[in-house]
Amino acid sequence: MSLLRLENVTKRFGGLLAVNNVSLELASGELIAIVGPNGAGKTTLFNVISGVFFPEEGKVIFEDRDITRLPAYRRAPLGLGRTFQIPRPFGSATVRENVAIGAMFGTLGSRINVDESLEMADRYIDLVGLQPHREKLAGNLTPVEKKMVEIARALAMKPKLLLMDEAMAGMNPKDIDYMVDLLIRIKEKEKIAIVAMVEHIMRAVAGLAKRVVVMHQGATFVDGPTADVLSDPRVIEVYLGGPSEKSKKDLVTNQTS
Ligand SMILES: Nc1ncnc2c1ncn2[C@@H]1O[C@H](COP(=O)(O)OP(=O)(O)O)[C@@H](O)[C@H]1O
Ligand SMILES: [Mg+2]
Repeated sequence: MSLLRLENVTKRFGGLLAVNNVSLELASGELIAIVGPNGAGKTTLFNVISGVFFPEEGKVIFEDRDITRLPAYRRAPLGLGRTFQIPRPFGSATVRENVAIGAMFGTLGSRINVDESLEMADRYIDLVGLQPHREKLAGNLTPVEKKMVEIARALAMKPKLLLMDEAMAGMNPKDIDYMVDLLIRIKEKEKIAIVAMVEHIMRAVAGLAKRVVVMHQGATFVDGPTADVLSDPRVIEVYLGGPSEKSKKDLVTNQTS
């Protein structure tokens, strides 16, 4: 049984096909990267999985349950966790409190009390490396530290699947390396599935996931083992055919590094 299955999912905005007939299966504990140029439909796909949008066509199946029209707030308790591209922690609460909130509203729900939530928060604060900031107000953290709070909060919800939008956007190479290493550690320790959306950062993909899905114009047009995908002429064409000289340069740099 797959953990997540998308069957011929289509999402339109007016006449625009943002996600076009996408089918995708993910096994428990699997880590995949989704890449693709700007506007490819990655975030929209993600929003369909997490319930921000309902698709016009197709099905979203989570653990054999059809959740296509289940509201977003009812998906988290099933084990569907996510982090956002722009982290928005409760700025006037501490890091520890922010993460504990995740535990209280996650899959454990009412089975966990406040003290247990705080203990769980400490565990995930340690995992993401935020120990020195435990008692700081989340509003005073750097953007990368806020991202780590997001991840710890999502993990404290004890998800079966973690969706990460723009997992590494705006990060310097050192932070990217840390994040790649962290995601692999999370997958191994927590035994959860992770879908990491990685835009423009092909460099990170090779070390991150064994499987890559490339989106282009709303479709998942390549889905396979990472080495095959990164050397696929069609994938190179999408990036080389893209609008910006910068993305060409990124791709070339990434392939040789
Ligand atoms: N809420 C929305 N309303 C209208 N169009 C949207 C909306 N969200 C995304 N789009 C459009 O859908 C397409 C896919 O966007 P998106 O999923 O954000 O791509 P990506 O995350 O791969 O950059 C783009 O053409 C974008 O302009
Ligand atoms: Mg996006």
